[in-house]
Amino acid sequence: VNIRLARVEDLMGMQACNLQNLPENYTLKYYLYHALTWPQLSYVAEEDGKIVGYILAKMEEDVADGDEPHGHVTSISVLRSYRRLGLAKRLMIQSQEAMATVYKAAYVSLHVRKSNRAALGLYRDTLGFTVKDIEKGYYADGEDAYAMRLSLKHLA
Ligand code: ACO
Repeated sequence: VNIRLARVEDLMGMQACNLQNLPENYTLKYYLYHALTWPQLSYVAEEDGKIVGYILAKMEEDVADGDEPHGHVTSISVLRSYRRLGLAKRLMIQSQEAMATVYKAAYVSLHVRKSNRAALGLYRDTLGFTVKDIEKGYYADGEDAYAMRLSLKHLA
């Protein structure tokens, strides 16, 4: 399995992967917006031309007064039969590296369901994210989100 930068022609494969893996879905236009605005931040995991995982990422656009520029992971997922191979970890690290070097991001943020054990394992235990806040009823079905972040200052 190869990890590489996402290209415009990958966006439909990324969207298909997202639809299989997550209830949070996005229009193709929103994928395209990411690819055109932050072309260095989104990556795919590909095997024999098929997209088996992706990270869709951006820089935060409305940075509050006093806050530093930071990246945000809009969505990441890996197809079921490709999980526990380290692909999500590799996708996260590639994107984080680009956030820091290309856009001078001080940190990366994301939201995750409180019940998402696999993703929490990845973010907290493998990558070192911490919980910054709990956003009550963040998801459409009413579940709370952990707002998590990870400093990227060591990559600057
Ligand atoms: N249970 C516990 N810990 C886990 C699990 C799990 N099921 N899966 C991964 N981890 C942790 C482990 O620490 C793992 O390291 P190890 O395998 O050496 O023990 C580490 O994360 C790295 O795992 P990867 O193999 O890199 O993760 P994978 O490629 O399997 O992808 C992901 C993880 C993306 C969470 C996958 O399970 C998935 O696609 N789930 C459905 C979609 C999803 O929940 N996406 C995240 C939503 S939040 C958001 O998008 C911002």
